[in-house]
Amino acid sequence: MQTLNIIRPDDWHIHLRDNTALKLTVSLAERTFARVLAMPNLTPPLTTVQSILNYRQRILAIAKNDHFTPYFAVYFTNDLNAATLREAKLCPWILGVKLYPQGATTHSDWGIDDINKQFANLAVMEELALPLLIHGEVTTNTIDIFDREARFIDTVLTPLQQRFPKLPMVLEHITTAEAVEWVQSMPAHIAATITAHHLAFNRNHLLAGGIRPDYYCLPILKRQHHQQKLQQAVMTKNQSQFFLGTDSAPHVQDKKYSACGCAGCFTSPIAIPLLAELFAANDALPLLETFTSINGARFYQLPLNTERVQLTQSPWVVPEQYTTNDTTFIPLLAGQTLSWQCHFIEGLS
Ligand code: NCD
Ligand code: ZN
Repeated sequence: MQTLNIIRPDDWHIHLRDNTALKLTVSLAERTFARVLAMPNLTPPLTTVQSILNYRQRILAIAKNDHFTPYFAVYFTNDLNAATLREAKLCPWILGVKLYPQGATTHSDWGIDDINKQFANLAVMEELALPLLIHGEVTTNTIDIFDREARFIDTVLTPLQQRFPKLPMVLEHITTAEAVEWVQSMPAHIAATITAHHLAFNRNHLLAGGIRPDYYCLPILKRQHHQQKLQQAVMTKNQSQFFLGTDSAPHVQDKKYSACGCAGCFTSPIAIPLLAELFAANDALPLLETFTSINGARFYQLPLNTERVQLTQSPWVVPEQYTTNDTTFIPLLAGQTLSWQCHFIEGLS
């Protein structure tokens, strides 16, 4: 039986949600991850430092692992101002500001309608070296959903980077060859998160032989050659600009499986076993730890975790569902068998 011992992973992009879902999302996250960066797209969104500190308390009240550390990002609205940015920079738990183009994804209605009106805020962020975390898709209805990330890079990101060359940026959950190449062409203060599901799957998993809502997320899964390019980026040495952000985004069962189902893959419990399986299949296991546990910490200038975690090549059946407060969430790959498993911290269930 193959085993692998790695530094405990971090998840630099997760949706912990709030209220009744929080108990489930936090307990799943803290089993595997030492640190997470919790996204601010709640209802209402986390637009102030105080709202983030309150959310942090709600999370810590649930966490059983004293070492579990949630980090946060401020939601970038049209009303963001320099005072909030300066306050955010001083808060040790806030790592950046999250840009959602208005209408791009779940709970992005409060997002930015015109980035060109935000140059004053972006200049402050550049001065403070406060990272801009970006949902990188254009929202124009006439642009094909499969082209929205590549188009964003050309029409929004490149001009933005040229105008604010020192601004640290993370292009979140990248899905295309264009995004990989763009990040590789940039200096070290520009990075990208990649999800486990965009590495393991492509749009055939979503659409061929039946439509599978579990695989529907934004940015949408792309063609196989994009998937291969993402794999190549994380399975090659010295690619320090790429790190794991699971983008685990649970939606309640009846909202996810409906005539107009929500975007978001619930992957928190499966992300690390799925990655172990994928890296093993590509003879790249020695590079897994760099992607899951090193590159992200280095980017955010945080120490590496001292705890380690054991992965073993032994079958694990993904639970059919998780239920919390009478609400059911179906994980991606529910009921399927993965060939690797991750050994959780003792005492956390
Ligand atoms: C996310 C969600 O549900 O909050 N959905 C998704 O498809 N990834 C939002 C996001 O990160 O785009
Ligand atoms: Zn997300």
